[in-house]
Amino acid sequence: MVVFKLFLMGLLYFGATAIVLEDDRKALLNFMNNLPHSRSLNWDSNSTNVCNHWTGVTCNEDGSRVIGLRLPGVGFHGHIPANTIGKLSSLQILSLRSNAISGEFPTDFYDLKNLSLLYLQFNQFSGSLPLDFTIWKNLTIVNLSNNKFNGSIPVSISNLTRLSALNLANNSLIGGIPDLGVYDLQVLDLSHNRLTGIVPKSLRKFPKSAFSGNDLSMVYSSDEVPIVMPTRKPVSSSKNGEKLGEKAVLATIVVVSAVVFTGFAVFWIVCCLRKNGGDGVSSKLEKGGMSPEKAISRSQDANNRLVFFEGCSYAFDLEDLLRASAEVLGKGTFGMSYKAILEDGTSVVVKRLKELSVGKREFEQQMGVVGGIKHENVIELRAYYYSKDEKLTVCEYYGEGSVAAMLHGKRGEDRVPLTWETRLRIAIGAARGIARIHAEIGGKLVHGNIKSSNVFLNPQSYGCISDVGLSTIMSQIAAPIARAAGYRAPEITDTRKATQPSDVYSFGVLLLELLTGKSPVHTTSGDEVIHLVRWVHSVVREEWTGEVFDVELLKYPNIEEEMVEMLQIAMSCVARVVDQRPKMTEVVKMVEDVRRNTESENRPCLPESSSPVPPSDVLE
Ligand SMILES: *[C@@H]1O[C@H](CO)[C@@H](O)[C@H](O)[C@H]1NC(C)=O
Ligand SMILES: *[C@@H]1O[C@H](CO)[C@@H](O)[C@H](O)[C@H]1NC(C)=O
Ligand SMILES: *[C@@H]1O[C@H](CO)[C@@H](O)[C@H](O)[C@H]1NC(C)=O
Ligand SMILES: *[C@@H]1O[C@H](CO)[C@@H](O)[C@H](O)[C@H]1NC(C)=O
Ligand SMILES: *[C@@H]1O[C@H](CO)[C@@H](O)[C@H](O)[C@H]1NC(C)=O
Ligand SMILES: *[C@@H]1O[C@H](CO)[C@@H](O)[C@H](O)[C@H]1NC(C)=O
Ligand SMILES: *[C@@H]1O[C@H](CO)[C@@H](O)[C@H](O)[C@H]1NC(C)=O
Repeated sequence: MVVFKLFLMGLLYFGATAIVLEDDRKALLNFMNNLPHSRSLNWDSNSTNVCNHWTGVTCNEDGSRVIGLRLPGVGFHGHIPANTIGKLSSLQILSLRSNAISGEFPTDFYDLKNLSLLYLQFNQFSGSLPLDFTIWKNLTIVNLSNNKFNGSIPVSISNLTRLSALNLANNSLIGGIPDLGVYDLQVLDLSHNRLTGIVPKSLRKFPKSAFSGNDLSMVYSSDEVPIVMPTRKPVSSSKNGEKLGEKAVLATIVVVSAVVFTGFAVFWIVCCLRKNGGDGVSSKLEKGGMSPEKAISRSQDANNRLVFFEGCSYAFDLEDLLRASAEVLGKGTFGMSYKAILEDGTSVVVKRLKELSVGKREFEQQMGVVGGIKHENVIELRAYYYSKDEKLTVCEYYGEGSVAAMLHGKRGEDRVPLTWETRLRIAIGAARGIARIHAEIGGKLVHGNIKSSNVFLNPQSYGCISDVGLSTIMSQIAAPIARAAGYRAPEITDTRKATQPSDVYSFGVLLLELLTGKSPVHTTSGDEVIHLVRWVHSVVREEWTGEVFDVELLKYPNIEEEMVEMLQIAMSCVARVVDQRPKMTEVVKMVEDVRRNTESENRPCLPESSSPVPPSDVLE
């Protein structure tokens, strides 16, 4: 029922005139001539017009390199010969699915450094998977299902920051599942292998069917590290240059923060309770196992301070912290996040920032601004910590997960669809939060990284914005992740130079995501890459407005008008021309009015297909 208007990457390059690199042409011909196949291909060896005429071949913009090769179901059988596909060094998309290709994973593929989508499902590949997946930094979708791969799942997959889908089902993989704490991972299928052990916590958001047909336990995993009493090691022990493993780092963070908190608590006790004679202090500290002098000098020596925004009223208690337990929440754009649970049940998110682009002073200034924002639609920064080796932020924790996880996370039977009411409240809350952020520093603060994984539900179930103020102080290397690209306004090339209008654009994409239930950049089962904004433009232009909406929303009665209105707001936010986008304060009013308008009876109905977008604005 939903009509998909597909944007094949190849179509964008239609009409290229240059001659494809001779080496690419040779490699393709070599491949066709040396790998037996049952259906013939129209690859005419005399033709130079590789880009426009050869079945399954897609070229780059100037037609000089082959960047896509899709040959599903051609009846290829046997081993992939050397010096063929591996020579197509610009390849980004490779689909050889549904053939009968055998042999090990071709070592030639190591040369395909730009590979982003890899579809090899339904073949006869065997042997182990490549040990080092990190050579393919851009891998986004990997489908190796329905082959005969054996060996174990390489740990290196967890280093693929752009990975969004991984399907290894129906192979003979053995061993444990590594903690693929890949934050952007949206689709995972490891079913029907011979995997053993435990499903790591970070993967339990996926439906049980993703792990079925193995010998796995869902019960408990090693990444929930119970906190031990802090060791007597001084804070600076992490400075002697050793590289710590991620697991060790987690433990270190917890211990370091606990020690730092201890130092803080001592200050707290000394500064706030001195009046009371300080009698309770020494007994408390003895329980903590250290003398006040030591703790104070230690934290002064290290010149490391956990800076709280609420000063002495903060509810952390020394013993609470010592007993806090922590778990990995995931790998975000700017670093790992951990959840620390205090004894009284309070949870906080500790974010470990990597690669700041600014020094301590600017960092502290920025944190000061962010910490000053107290708003129900902005996740509150409780504290931060800066030292040479570690930069941490401590924020409120909201248990229901991000909007991204709610919209795209759970699939299958146990999925709870988001109601229209909830989506409306997410939109209203997020808009208010962003508007509040934009009012900061004399109306100049920019968020820079608005996306559904940075929006949570506050206790009133309204949207609530996280990661405030980070994008402008983090270095660029950390920032561009494939998924984030779907939110980025066309005029923005460097995320540190984001603007308030580009925030408005990203918010528009978030609205589209709420309306369509689709990710900003996603692929269909037929390997096509779809940009949400372009897709919605095309559907709306063709007057199929009704086809845009998430099928999960269609069961609610009488919301069509509200959805169409919200769609129009979204479209005005994602206007290509910067000046045509509304200001965030205007967006708030418009989004709030969606419900108000439909509640007043005298309002004329909108024609369903009315489109706010002039046709010229549709395709770039
Ligand atoms: C290619 O050209 C040569 C001579 O120009 C000709 O003999 C041959 O049949 C052509 N091959 C194809 C596949 O058209
Ligand atoms: C990989 O992609 C980037 C940008 O998309 C391009 O600049 C680079 O030349 C590509 N590498 C190869 C080997 O084509
Ligand atoms: C990956 O993609 C980015 C941009 O999408 C590009 O700049 C880069 O060259 C690509 N290749 C590698 C190996 O990172
Ligand atoms: C994996 O398969 C290959 C060949 O198919 C075989 O030689 C090897 O022993 C197998 N390894 C394991 C661990 O089963
Ligand atoms: C991988 O292939 C299987 C089998 O064709 C298919 O069901 C699944 O949707 C594919 N997964 C991805 C992520 O492309
Ligand atoms: C993953 O990346 C980290 C650093 O980012 C590196 O230390 C580690 O060796 C990598 N792991 C694998 C398996 O490549
Ligand atoms: C795995 O194989 C089973 C049985 O052939 C099939 O029902 C299932 O769909 C396959 N899974 C995937 C992901 O292709």
